Amino acid sequence: MPKVEIEGNSYPKNMVSLFAGIGGFELAFQSIGVPTILTCEIDPIAQHILKTNLPNVPLTSDICELQELPDETDILCAGFPCQDLSSIGFKQGMAGNRSSLVKEVFRLLRQKKVEWVIFENVPYMLHLKKGETIRTIVEELESLGYSWAYRTIDSLAFVPQHRCRVYIVASLNHDPKNVLLSGNSLTEQGVISSDEFTEPCGFYWTEGKYAIGLYQNAIPTLKVGSSIGIASPPAIAFPNGDVSSPDIRDAERLQGFPVDWTKPAEDLKVKPNARWKLVGNAITVDVAAWIAGKIKAPEMYDSSADRKLKKTEKWPRAAWGGNGKRYFANVSHYPVGRDEVSLTDFLLYPCKPLSYKAAKGFENRLNSGTVRCPQFFREAIKNYVEKRSEENG
Ligand SMILES: C[S@@+](CC[C@H](N)C(=O)[O-])C[C@H]1O[C@@H](n2cnc3c(N)ncnc32)[C@H](O)[C@@H]1O
Repeated sequence: MPKVEIEGNSYPKNMVSLFAGIGGFELAFQSIGVPTILTCEIDPIAQHILKTNLPNVPLTSDICELQELPDETDILCAGFPCQDLSSIGFKQGMAGNRSSLVKEVFRLLRQKKVEWVIFENVPYMLHLKKGETIRTIVEELESLGYSWAYRTIDSLAFVPQHRCRVYIVASLNHDPKNVLLSGNSLTEQGVISSDEFTEPCGFYWTEGKYAIGLYQNAIPTLKVGSSIGIASPPAIAFPNGDVSSPDIRDAERLQGFPVDWTKPAEDLKVKPNARWKLVGNAITVDVAAWIAGKIKAPEMYDSSADRKLKKTEKWPRAAWGGNGKRYFANVSHYPVGRDEVSLTDFLLYPCKPLSYKAAKGFENRLNSGTVRCPQFFREAIKNYVEKRSEENG
């Protein structure tokens, strides 16, 4: 793909991270040599992770109290809270207190425009209230003179975790299409490719009735909460008959973080699931690093297959525009291709066997629900429940 030339003096030199969580954007930009000059994060446990792992980066707390961005800011990242937007959240959209915090980002941008802005959030924001959130973001960006592109990207393109998130890149003087939309792999990841049980399959043991999120050689999205109300790891069914959950250190790796990145949380005597919550809340570092790398070295996007978006049309999974003009982008969820790696080889730490109670509960939901899944998977669950029942006497 043809590279796009960047003039030497317009190369970004630093980044500010709002809603920083445990620092996914910070690690991503660090990997291309762009330091973070300010983070903003309100949660005390996440703050403790940031202070411990990124001790030299200044940290502020509530975005509502942040008066202004540093003058020299080149890139602004904001993975704003999604509880009011996600399909398992409160569905209030921009009226919800947490997601409306994105308005604070525009308060800061109105005071001081920044060359590059990156947002990240759940795909449900494209649908909730007819796409109120994406429309607000696009309109606000355009009113400030930005052009923009957004794309739904599945982390599966980079790591063995299915995790679709919408990434929005906006710029005052560059073309965001050449950052976010160039790069298109058509190889589906995580698809069950055989009727036989040959590879580990990740699934949500907390679900079962309507959905199970079953993927081959991948886990479903690491979440903040589940349908049973707690942040809990997904499970993996292995061809050798084991059904178990990955270790938190592998969960960190499945999000692209170094092993034990969230271990400092234990200093605060938090509940055991606190680390899972932090990891489930984070951006996949590899996806953010891919975007960061493309800001450094953009590639020409061929938009010849794209078409204008009608005003009445639903927001598609990817689009671009500026100055009131909007286009449908013909791209996949996978900006890059990846060779499928067996989960057995990817995981480094011992998995924790699913308890009899958890497995039996899942089996009951699976049997009483309408989920379609391969016969080998149903049999694997049945056999595991029987094995655990015998062990339990
Ligand atoms: C979706 S997470 C972002 C995660 C982050 N991108 C990462 O890699 O870990 C949103 C974050 O916004 C934080 N947050 C919520 N309200 C805030 C506020 N008023 N000011 C600053 N941060 C806030 C939450 O604590 C949460 O960590």
